[in-house]
Amino acid sequence: MMQIVETIVELQQVLRRWREAGENIAFVPTMGNLHAGHISLVNAAHSKARRVVVSIFVNPTQFGPEEDYDAYPRTLEADTQQLREAKVDLLFLPTKKIMYPAGASTQIIVTGLSEHYCGASRPGHFSGVATVVAKLFNIVQPDIALFGEKDFQQLTIIRKMVGDLNIPVILQGIATVREADGLALSSRNSYLTSDQRKIAPLLYQSLCQVKARIMAGESDYATIEAECCLTLKQAGFEPDYIAICREADLQPAQANDTHLMVLAAARLGKPRLIDNIAAKATKQ
Ligand code: PAF
Repeated sequence: MMQIVETIVELQQVLRRWREAGENIAFVPTMGNLHAGHISLVNAAHSKARRVVVSIFVNPTQFGPEEDYDAYPRTLEADTQQLREAKVDLLFLPTKKIMYPAGASTQIIVTGLSEHYCGASRPGHFSGVATVVAKLFNIVQPDIALFGEKDFQQLTIIRKMVGDLNIPVILQGIATVREADGLALSSRNSYLTSDQRKIAPLLYQSLCQVKARIMAGESDYATIEAECCLTLKQAGFEPDYIAICREADLQPAQANDTHLMVLAAARLGKPRLIDNIAAKATKQ
């Protein structure tokens, strides 16, 4: 049966009992409004550890002043049901006051990675993410934590933070879950109108085309990025960036780099959609 706890003390009592029994713990942090992508993280978590802990916390510090913190979809009843069905052992539902008690003033900033791509248009977003994830890691102390690869920049930043701060947790990225037409699952897809929903898969299709060009040996990345932006604009997107970068550190790809990631963010009406694809460049 899934236990639900709201306080750190209650959570740690349960975790202590499991650890004393020699049971390892996998952790999936979320902001709720769960979909099949989150459940794939939970399923992967079950294959990695005896106990699975999920948190739901809509983290205010990762939303900018103009962003959708208040409107962010909160669907606790449906989420709880899905997590029960997915056989989660423990659901942690901290309040804002528990995560950020009055006077809390420490922030984690992963420099060099947080300012670019999504960080450029969402200043402070990744320090909000890094800070809350570090706090959740300290509270839960999981053996392994799982994150979706859809938020690839987020995953890279968390990896860097875990390395830089010697946080004793193994990180596991899990492949993006997509609709049949390729659209990456996201809580923000619910903001799309039915007309926008028809156009939305073009984001992933464009990434697939960029990948095909890279794999065919094209290496004028600036031109490929610009042409991809133009295609998206013509279809009604407002592209924020299309970036061909090195997978390991997300720095702009150079001609001799082989393991690449193509990152994309584009607004389509209200929601800003993000997606990415890995591409291996063939070098002569
Ligand atoms: O990816 C998310 O849902 C959030 O950014 C996370 C990792 C739960 C931190 O609030």
